[in-house]
Amino acid sequence: MKRVWNFNAGPSPMPLPVLEEIREEWTDFRGTGMSIIEMSHRSAEFQALLAETKALLTELLELKDGQEIVFIQGGGTMQFLMEACNFLHTCAAYADTGVWAHKARDAAKFFGEAYDANTAKDKNYTYIPDTYDIRPGTDYLHITTNNTIYGTEYWKFPEVDVPVICDMSSDILSRRVDCNQFAMIWAGIQKNLGAAGMALAVIRKEFLETARTDVPEFLQYRTFVAKDSAYNTPAVFCIYTLNKMLHWIKNMGGTAAMEIRNKKKADLLYHVIDGSGGFYRGHAEPAHRSRMNVTFNLAAPEQEKDFITRAKENGFVGVGGHRLVGGCRVSLYNAVTPEAAEAIADFMKEYMRANG
Ligand SMILES: Cc1ncc(COP(=O)(O)O)c(C=O)c1O
Repeated sequence: MKRVWNFNAGPSPMPLPVLEEIREEWTDFRGTGMSIIEMSHRSAEFQALLAETKALLTELLELKDGQEIVFIQGGGTMQFLMEACNFLHTCAAYADTGVWAHKARDAAKFFGEAYDANTAKDKNYTYIPDTYDIRPGTDYLHITTNNTIYGTEYWKFPEVDVPVICDMSSDILSRRVDCNQFAMIWAGIQKNLGAAGMALAVIRKEFLETARTDVPEFLQYRTFVAKDSAYNTPAVFCIYTLNKMLHWIKNMGGTAAMEIRNKKKADLLYHVIDGSGGFYRGHAEPAHRSRMNVTFNLAAPEQEKDFITRAKENGFVGVGGHRLVGGCRVSLYNAVTPEAAEAIADFMKEYMRANG
């Protein structure tokens, strides 16, 4: 078996033991004589898996009573639409921390007024602004807790008088965060938690009560809550992989252990960047750096191209920056092993020695 050092930004690596377990039960899930993708979503077995997945999320996210958990097809992009479709009555504020924030805001404009409460554009999205200009009548503030493309992450959350909705697609369960402080969090699961194609959402009950009812049933969070995420056929394979990943995180020691593991991995890379005398230039300001996506540049685009090519030749996959911004990016989601982080850090040092 050949496995590469995988630093893809999403879809992204899964832990090998999880993949092996999936292979093991692929043709016979829990003694049913069927694969998980062959059975009815109304079956007792699938219903048990769904309930177990919600219980694991409640435990790992340390959710208090009064929160609803739903699973919705369509990934993060569908959530850009749904959050606004449900909660935008008058106007909505968006923290402008980069590309995904723009996509969220622009999707919301279809439903009403959506405006930037701040912007990090002045410094090319190298930081997270910490002031918010909230207009009267604002229904919610949307933030992107980790900016996958620019490699910035929130280390201090907004203190504002309006409900906060978090897009946690690229850092959910990678660290301990008190999710009970937010009106809603959601995340596409394909980075830290499983297969692409679905998002999970955690919505505070009182906030849900404010949702619009004059929109199609399938676009209402209320419907997903009332039908326990099975109004129509849910994304059964995604829910199954999510369940596996949650078990894996729990067995690894939960979010506290993930946080230590992820910090260690990110520190290794930032240490190489900071000690490179400018050979590698970190994109994010140190205080706003992401532990999930380490973004950096070399002296010129040709050198970055060469670095990415040499990395690939040495078995490192996915180190090119996002197509919209270029540069280099190493994604270090939960499943990425400390050995993988050490290997890429060593490769970066060696590349600098040979080319510096
Ligand atoms: C922070 C963030 N939000 C939203 C999305 C969009 O997710 P999806 O591709 O599942 O629609 C992404 C995708 O990478 C992301 O990184």
